[in-house]
Amino acid sequence: MRAETVGIIGGTGWLGGALARALLDNALIAAERLFLSNRSGDHPLAASGAHLLADNQGLVDASDIVIVAVRPEQFKALAINASDRFVISLMAGVPAQAISSATGARKVVRAMANAAVDIRQSFTPWHCSVELSASDQALVQQLLECVGTASRVPTEDCIDYLSALCGTGPAFPALLMTALMRQAVAAGIPQDIARQAARGVVLGASRLLDETEPQAMIDSLMAYRGVTAAALQSLLAADFEAMVGRAVQAGADVARGGM
Ligand SMILES: NC(=O)c1ccc[n+]([C@@H]2O[C@H](COP(=O)([O-])OP(=O)(O)OC[C@H]3O[C@@H](n4cnc5c(N)ncnc54)[C@H](OP(=O)(O)O)[C@@H]3O)[C@@H](O)[C@H]2O)c1
Repeated sequence: MRAETVGIIGGTGWLGGALARALLDNALIAAERLFLSNRSGDHPLAASGAHLLADNQGLVDASDIVIVAVRPEQFKALAINASDRFVISLMAGVPAQAISSATGARKVVRAMANAAVDIRQSFTPWHCSVELSASDQALVQQLLECVGTASRVPTEDCIDYLSALCGTGPAFPALLMTALMRQAVAAGIPQDIARQAARGVVLGASRLLDETEPQAMIDSLMAYRGVTAAALQSLLAADFEAMVGRAVQAGADVARGGM
């Protein structure tokens, strides 16, 4: 990777820690060039040889790229001057303008990863409102792709919307799996079977969508005009798609409103 040094403020948290481990595992950065900070001190990641600091300004001074991976409500307390640094924020609901004002950074990327960074399966959209050189763009892609896939999006509002869509990670499938399980139990299916059936649908059968467009899959299953069609028709009649749209908008409104 072109960056000489990378610093992750909040580098021992869920997202920051997963990114740090992936950077090291993929040999994108040598441990002695990686700086992590937190408030609580010692952490297993320090055993990697990466520098673990309590001093955020020290991290900024040592790093070409500064990744901010603290929770949104923890951001105000950072008080860093990163005016000549490339800042990549993983925070939901903190606008790039607020990050620039608070840190002095001119080049601010907002990236929206999700909990699947743990298994390196996050789709991470990112946005930067200032012109980036081809090498800076490639650098952001490379950094984010070490925890999954990534794409640049055209506006910052896309990031706020996508915070509620893919930033939610496993939330929607978890809700679906729970609903399928509970409803099956309520219908008299033994609990362990209900669990296996729901997992089979959400985690097993849905892998077929890797190879087939979802609409084509729906069309082909509806064409049987049988059990599946009846179940899907019931959801569609209840305006399932609009309900999903409202749910994502509700989350996006929170992200747009700042957190
Ligand atoms: N987790 C998700 O699924 C998810 C999804 C989308 C977006 N995000 C975004 O990712 C960001 C991080 O979330 P997370 O789930 O990774 O949170 P987290 O696990 O709570 O991690 C936050 C990290 O920040 C550190 N920290 C807090 N205040 C600090 C300070 N003043 N200086 C240095 N380090 C500090 C914490 O360590 P100490 O307590 O030791 O200081 C911790 O290591 C959030 O802004 C969130 O919006 C998360």
